[in-house]
Amino acid sequence: MKNKTVYIASDHAGFKLKSQLLKKFPKITDLGTKSDESVDYPDFAHKLTKEILKSKNNFGILICGTGVGMSITANRRKGIRAGIANNSKIATLIRKHNDANVLVLPGRFISTNEAKKSVQTFLSTKFESGRHKRRIDKI
Ligand code: RB5
Repeated sequence: MKNKTVYIASDHAGFKLKSQLLKKFPKITDLGTKSDESVDYPDFAHKLTKEILKSKNNFGILICGTGVGMSITANRRKGIRAGIANNSKIATLIRKHNDANVLVLPGRFISTNEAKKSVQTFLSTKFESGRHKRRIDKI
């Protein structure tokens, strides 16, 4: 997490997992939601991506039930590369191959342990560049 500012946000379906992740990663800035009361995931995806776009050193974690709603919303913003990871191997690859700056977790379909491993590797894995950079430039 060196030199990185990391933000996290979720809807109600991701609230529990977000709380567990914040216990393990207390330096991550929480942008809500603050309870398991029903909310709309786009409000939180927009709030987080706005912060991420302020600096290249900013990274984000979004959680909803499936990860899909957060992912669709986040990827509408130019400069955001959000990838859904169901496990830590995918979380590693979205950094290495896609230079993802937002990790999206499916709160209802991932264990807490796998989510913690996913965050750890997402924040410590570097982009491999090379042929992957060429592909990203074509997006
Ligand atoms: C909320 O019930 C659920 O629809 C949301 O968390 C997410 O999975 C949407 O993509």
